[in-house]
Amino acid sequence: MIDYFALINKYYQPGTTLYKLYVVHVCMVANKALEIARRLQLSLEEQILIEEGAMLHDIGICQTNVPAIGCHGPDPYIRHGLDGAAMLRQEGLEAQARIAERHLGVGLTRDYIVSRQLPLPAQDFIPQTLPEQIVTYADTFYSKYEQRLWIPDSPATIKAELGEYGPQQVQVFERWQAQFEPAQQKDDYDQ
Ligand SMILES: [Fe+2]
Repeated sequence: MIDYFALINKYYQPGTTLYKLYVVHVCMVANKALEIARRLQLSLEEQILIEEGAMLHDIGICQTNVPAIGCHGPDPYIRHGLDGAAMLRQEGLEAQARIAERHLGVGLTRDYIVSRQLPLPAQDFIPQTLPEQIVTYADTFYSKYEQRLWIPDSPATIKAELGEYGPQQVQVFERWQAQFEPAQQKDDYDQ
């Protein structure tokens, strides 16, 4: 298990608002992702990667410009996955880097990046492995804004937001929902 708090503390100063938002957000994501991992009986190795990847998936936000959450870096927010991946690769953390760079929305295709002229390399950033998919799925439920930090968004809200980026994003979310949530809980959500 890597010491992810040492890495978080290297880039985020404890006590700042950004630190608090970061830590609460990634803990919420890690908690939901690990619940799913245990339910699906993933291996201990995969569960550890999920914990590490969830705690570090947003490490790149300090390099982006989002004053509302205390980020004053040079990059647009959409590059935080790629920025984080570069930071994690510097540490030799390839599997965690792949989680970071593939976690935007439910993943971004090359076509999507090119057609919207997004400031990202023209390539697919699609979660491939279960740990990558589970962290990405869990992340869709949680905001980094103070008012919504502790409360998961409803699937209806998530699907409405993803729908703005195209129907494929909603389809991927629904597929993961069927795969990752217990049937009972899914019914509760739908009420
Ligand atoms: Fe996140």
